[in-house]
Amino acid sequence: MTSIASAPGKLIICGEHAVVYGQPAIAVPLPDVRAWATVAQAASPGIVCAAPDLGETWRLSSQRDHPLAQLTISTLRRLGLAEDIALHITLRSNIPIASGMGSGAALGAALVKALAAYAGHVLSSAEVAALVYESERAFHGTPSGIDNTVVSYEQPVWFRRGAQDTPPTIEQVQIAAPLHLVIGDTGVRAPTSLTVGVVRERWQREPDLLIAYFEQIGSIVQQVRAALAAGQLTQTGELLNQNQAVLHRLGVSSPDLERLISAAIQAGALGAKLSGGGGGGVMLALTTAERIDHVRAALQHAGAAHVLATSIVT
Ligand code: PMV
Repeated sequence: MTSIASAPGKLIICGEHAVVYGQPAIAVPLPDVRAWATVAQAASPGIVCAAPDLGETWRLSSQRDHPLAQLTISTLRRLGLAEDIALHITLRSNIPIASGMGSGAALGAALVKALAAYAGHVLSSAEVAALVYESERAFHGTPSGIDNTVVSYEQPVWFRRGAQDTPPTIEQVQIAAPLHLVIGDTGVRAPTSLTVGVVRERWQREPDLLIAYFEQIGSIVQQVRAALAAGQLTQTGELLNQNQAVLHRLGVSSPDLERLISAAIQAGALGAKLSGGGGGGVMLALTTAERIDHVRAALQHAGAAHVLATSIVT
């Protein structure tokens, strides 16, 4: 018997970093880039997991500290399965790694869903998100929880983390007019923990200033939500530019990101900003349908390592 499940990549539209400090953020799934997990019965007891795209193979019994091994263990426990069950797991993904498109969370969500399907269970999106969150928390410090949420729910989400250990607020985001996004990857791998650490350190030194920045971002995110619901794309673009200006002041942009953002704006994008942790990784440009190719070409010309165009509709 074999089961297969997948989960999408994700893009934070606005609110990154401030979301770690209790402000809201908006994220969308990226249906065209995905992670897949296949769970098949094996000939001998024990779980072997192969991730050929990552060049990794691990055996659960001997590499229990691998992040995905921990997630496998907690999921098996939730499903009432023994750890020595004879399984072969294969993980695949076409989501760029460590670039802000949620590859780790998507692999985790696909793994949880495929194990559940193998056991004949259907887990709710909230349960999948919670299992992936625990594993992200164990290995990435203090994630807000937005990544695991959007890849598990697979719909645009308004996300606000709960105080202490209370559950987050997760609401659907209405998108009245198609959102045409062009994503430019700087090709610079920037671990989220690095920029989150830079912001935390600055927040400790200059709390009043940083809290003011987080509040500005929170207010922009509220306005983006209203603009998306009203189909006001020009207004949304302006707000994304404002969000980028605050992220720049926070210190999480980079010359590569700034170059791609300027190129997109010059090519007629309605707005552009970094997405995710920053310091490298990806930026997004909001554009009209007519300008998609123009913005894509401008990003390629400006040196983007990869460019991806996608349209979000609800
Ligand atoms: O780098 P990404 O795409 O995983 O996004 C990180 C978003 C942050 O707000 C910077 C951190 C977080 O945990 O929300």
